[in-house]
Amino acid sequence: MRQLAAALALALAGSIVNASGPPASSGSNVPDVETRSSGLQLVPMPRTAQLYATNCQGCHGEFGSSAAEIPTLAGRVGYFTRIPEGRRYLVQVPNVALNTNSDADIAAVLNWLLATYSRAQLPADFKPYTASEVGELRRARIDVAVSRRRVIDALVAAGQIPSADVLALPHVVLY
Ligand code: HEC
Repeated sequence: MRQLAAALALALAGSIVNASGPPASSGSNVPDVETRSSGLQLVPMPRTAQLYATNCQGCHGEFGSSAAEIPTLAGRVGYFTRIPEGRRYLVQVPNVALNTNSDADIAAVLNWLLATYSRAQLPADFKPYTASEVGELRRARIDVAVSRRRVIDALVAAGQIPSADVLALPHVVLY
């Protein structure tokens, strides 16, 4: 009976999280921004999952499957800001959205990154990210591969880059 009660409590805790959080990627036990800021915890291993999200996920991926190819930012990342969906994408990339720094710090580092490594690719009317914009955008959960492909297709369609090759991923050979 006590086990049943515990199981019910766990199930309830899970559904509370699901009901109040944004549409999360299914099956993930990595806490999202909404979950962290509301103080709710996901079962079964909230602290360890959070440790993974903040220390390891950047390179090893949300589901333990690493990105074999890491995008080059220099001379490229600014292209994304030329269309609204690309501007959103840069904040919604999981390692940006899930980062534990403040919205203001994330806006600052994105603006710094764009101005430092990819100034020539920014649109003439580029407006720096603001903390409130980042706060709003980072609540979304995206499938990064699907979104990236869509944004690049939209950039080509809008005539902002000549072809998808401009943002092609490099092949990384570690060993
Ligand atoms: C900055 C990127 C980065 C971060 C952050 C990172 N790793 Fe790694 N990890 C790597 C790379 C690259 C390798 C391949 C070995 C190497 O070059 O050191 C690796 C290898 C490993 C391996 C060995 C896997 C194998 O097949 O040989 C384990 C286990 C591992 N990491 C766990 C972790 C854990 C746990 C964390 C968080 C505490 C973490 N890593 C954080 C980049 C990272």
